[in-house]
Amino acid sequence: MTTKFVKINEVSSGQSTSALQQAGEILRRGGLVVFPTETVYGLGGDGTNADSARAIYAAKGRPADNPLIIHIAFPEDAEKYTETSDLYFRLAERFMPGPLTVILTAKPVIPPEVRAGLDTVAVRCPSHPVAHALICAAGVPIAAPSANLSGKPSPTCAAHVKDDMDGRVDMIIDGGDSEVGLESTIVKMEGDGSLTLLRPGAVTLDDLLTVTDRVTVADAVTGQLAPGEIVLSPGMKYKHYAPDAPFYLLDGTDEEIFSFLKTKEGRIAVLTYEEDLDAWRDGLPDKDFYAFGRRNNRVEQAHLLFHLLREIDKRGYTAIYAPLPAKDGIGLALYNRMIRAAAHQIIKL
Ligand code: TXA
Ligand code: MG
Repeated sequence: MTTKFVKINEVSSGQSTSALQQAGEILRRGGLVVFPTETVYGLGGDGTNADSARAIYAAKGRPADNPLIIHIAFPEDAEKYTETSDLYFRLAERFMPGPLTVILTAKPVIPPEVRAGLDTVAVRCPSHPVAHALICAAGVPIAAPSANLSGKPSPTCAAHVKDDMDGRVDMIIDGGDSEVGLESTIVKMEGDGSLTLLRPGAVTLDDLLTVTDRVTVADAVTGQLAPGEIVLSPGMKYKHYAPDAPFYLLDGTDEEIFSFLKTKEGRIAVLTYEEDLDAWRDGLPDKDFYAFGRRNNRVEQAHLLFHLLREIDKRGYTAIYAPLPAKDGIGLALYNRMIRAAAHQIIKL
């Protein structure tokens, strides 16, 4: 299939209106449109159409047992597709539109193919103006996983999307760099009115705790699944974001990391905090150091992570190293993505 590319800088321009109408039309007739969101790019189809869900799984090369998130234009639209609750609206008031996904009991209008047969469905109201305008133009909720091929890092710019999805979808909308750079926070609304944090993101655990003190962090967020363990969120069981080269996280001080790197041979890439960059480049000229934001700015690191993993992966390194991030704030989301990219290989120095 030939993929049409459009760039939208300003949602209200005449040109973008006609592109969005065309995209809405594609979605309504069962086609696929990749669109920008504030977290990562999404691979969208009609969330009420079972065939669209099948097409999404095929384009992504994703097992059909991993359910999709439906994207809505307004938080209250969740009522049409799910059983909402008072807690849902309290979360919505605080965090929507924005990078929060809530798992609720689905209504039958959302076909089982979208939910991978579960009786729940994940709902998210993105804040990106292009995503919002596209959902409105489609007139249906947009089912969308991240727009990467299964196993690759989520795409945070149109160039990543093109690498993975050119020829596999009807249209790709380029809306610039994703602001957050990591996928949304996912919480499951439990029957007893508590929340389970299934995937950390830019809405942090502390943010959630301002709305309810009944939040449990799923074990898989920071740990490794035991063989045969039941997963709450099917996505957790797949190897994710993994670069081709072995990737290791280093748990130690700057000095310990530097000394460790000194002993390593081969083509080595290192994600490095900006404060260390000059000294490490001078001290270890045979290694490649990639700027990974400032040490205490985890928002910056989140924004860069997937971009760097894709970049580094193209260059054929024998190994990749990065400092193990702390787990506070958005650090928990970084930690979660990095331990998976590293297949849990943490080296204690
Ligand atoms: O930021 C995001 O959430 C992006 C953008 C495009 O919105 N989307 C995204 O979708 O990351 P995806 O499909 O790559 O990740 C969704 C995760 C998967 O791990 C899936 O298993 C989980 O959400 N999920 C979806 N529906 C679920 C459900 N009903 N119960 C449990 N987990 C669910
Ligand atoms: Mg994904």
